[in-house]
Amino acid sequence: METTRQRPAACPRFGVQSYISGKWLRHFHINCLNRLEPEWSRPCLLPGDLREALSISLSHFQLGETGSGSCLFREAAGKCDPDDIGALELFVKEEGEHARLLARLVERLGGRLIRRHWTHRLFKLVRQAGGFHFEIQALLTGEIVGTAYYQMIHEAVQDEPLNAALNLMLSDEASHIAFHLDRQKARWREWLPLERSAWELQFQLIVLFALRAAWLDHGPCLHRLGFTWSDFRARALRTTIGFLDGVRSAGTVRQGCGATVGAAVTSS
Ligand SMILES: [Fe+2]
Ligand SMILES: [Fe+2]
Repeated sequence: METTRQRPAACPRFGVQSYISGKWLRHFHINCLNRLEPEWSRPCLLPGDLREALSISLSHFQLGETGSGSCLFREAAGKCDPDDIGALELFVKEEGEHARLLARLVERLGGRLIRRHWTHRLFKLVRQAGGFHFEIQALLTGEIVGTAYYQMIHEAVQDEPLNAALNLMLSDEASHIAFHLDRQKARWREWLPLERSAWELQFQLIVLFALRAAWLDHGPCLHRLGFTWSDFRARALRTTIGFLDGVRSAGTVRQGCGATVGAAVTSS
């Protein structure tokens, strides 16, 4: 007897999100394949004082990249479709991979890993201050700060395994920001201009605050590498502005029809 397999009914609440999360779920699945491990056995020729400054600074980032995301997943239940939760799980796993790479770097530089630091406590407090979407935004802020920091270390330090690890992480962080951008765009389309303005304002304030805190912690190391606060700020703000421009573009594009509201207005 022929039976017809019933497809699950499409959930309008998750319509756009399902399309986006399916795309990201595939991305994260593919991205964890065939990654080249840095050649950790190569000798490290960096001077002792630089090794020390780097290992202390990187150990703080290592702690920041560590975490199971248990609070995030508790909050995500009921707010995200299964693909989105799957993509978030793989995203958190990728951050765990960064923690592993950073731990190898700290070990290579002769430093030691830490379990507590005020920046980590502050980050945790902010993450848990406002529910699921706020936690995602705190993670996005961490990506922006981390990208500027990893780029600077990558540019200024000549050590092959360190550069290889940072290349992997920078490529992942660029995708993480694009992942957050897609998720934020889906929310943005449903907001009033007033809600959009309020979100933009608080997001920018939090980024500026996070940059100050990060400089307080990592400024001495970045300064040792020849960077100033203005360099760090300018680099992170470029990413922030790019993100905001990307989010705003969602306000003028109609999902699925390929026509912009702007085009409709000018042609009428
Ligand atoms: Fe990361
Ligand atoms: Fe990330």
